[in-house]
Amino acid sequence: DKPTYILAIESSCDDTSASVMCNAKVLSNVVANQEVHSKYGGVVPELASRAHQQNIVPVVQQALAQAKITKNDLSAIAFTKGPGLMGSLLVGTSFAKSMALGLNIPLLDVNHMQAHILAHFIDEEGSKKPNFPFICLTISGGHTQIVKVSNYFDMEILGETIDDAVGEAFDKSAKILGLPYPGGPLIDKYAQLGNPKAYSFTKPKVGDLDFSFSGLKTGILYFIQKQQRINPNFIEENLNDICASIQHTIVEILMDKLKNAVKQTGIKEIAIAGGVSANSEIRKRLINAEKHFGWPTYIPKFEYTTDNAAMIGITGYLKYISNMHADINVTAKARLKV
Ligand code: KG4
Ligand code: ZN
Repeated sequence: DKPTYILAIESSCDDTSASVMCNAKVLSNVVANQEVHSKYGGVVPELASRAHQQNIVPVVQQALAQAKITKNDLSAIAFTKGPGLMGSLLVGTSFAKSMALGLNIPLLDVNHMQAHILAHFIDEEGSKKPNFPFICLTISGGHTQIVKVSNYFDMEILGETIDDAVGEAFDKSAKILGLPYPGGPLIDKYAQLGNPKAYSFTKPKVGDLDFSFSGLKTGILYFIQKQQRINPNFIEENLNDICASIQHTIVEILMDKLKNAVKQTGIKEIAIAGGVSANSEIRKRLINAEKHFGWPTYIPKFEYTTDNAAMIGITGYLKYISNMHADINVTAKARLKV
């Protein structure tokens, strides 16, 4: 049989990415990060969409070149329909639509949150795939969800954040500490050298499988302000311990909820997905959970954690083989449930 080549495009937030898949295998996965936002402490939507416009053509060309194919070899085009920033989504959506029209090949619309989860089904040497049904903790800059995954496109949200996402908790804490955006990876880096028990922060009390992170952020802000009044060099002198303690608190909150989810559903197959699943402590804790609680755990390869087009490509491929093509009139959606 002739292999299926899919070009996938991701532009939901601040990364422009294109990937070429050959069936479920990744041939290329090019990501252009946008540096413009770092000094603003967060993503500026207008700057993001302008940068996508500048990046999209070279990123797609690079993805095709690295895969050693031309656009005429493509079987279909996949793109992120949502959720995300409208101006950013529109760049990828219109690009994908016009390319599919021009080549007269099917268009595949992909839900970004489903794609984070389905990245586990990318065919890779040595990777193990979760068995249905499994529980996925999806943790990113915009979302924090516990999802029951019964099949590729049969997902149910069992719990989610009632305010900030966990990535925001990392990024806003980093901002309080004077670190640039996105601060999550920096907190992770400094935390490796610090004592996670140095400081303690109150964990939120929120029902069932839901999350809340805005109170934690305020608690951290007040704590830092108080310490800085006593010692103006408090942050510099204790950065590693502060980061380790913040990270430890956040990961404890996530692990507590996962334990509840297993108890409630009886499902022990546990996956993590999304940008925050790049975090070294959550990865370590999940590996330990496999040993200590007997959960089969699934941790995505590092390059498939933060936003990337390969996850859009595998989701597009799974839709393609089920004939779930999009209509050419499909539109971007800023809000979209899994
Ligand atoms: O999935 P993603 O790339 O974009 C969204 O869809 O939101 O997630 C980005 C988030 C940011 O908040 C970033 O700080 C966080 O993931 N992140 C991390 C780490 N790497 C990325 N948070 C903690 N530790 C990390 N190593
Ligand atoms: Zn994402």
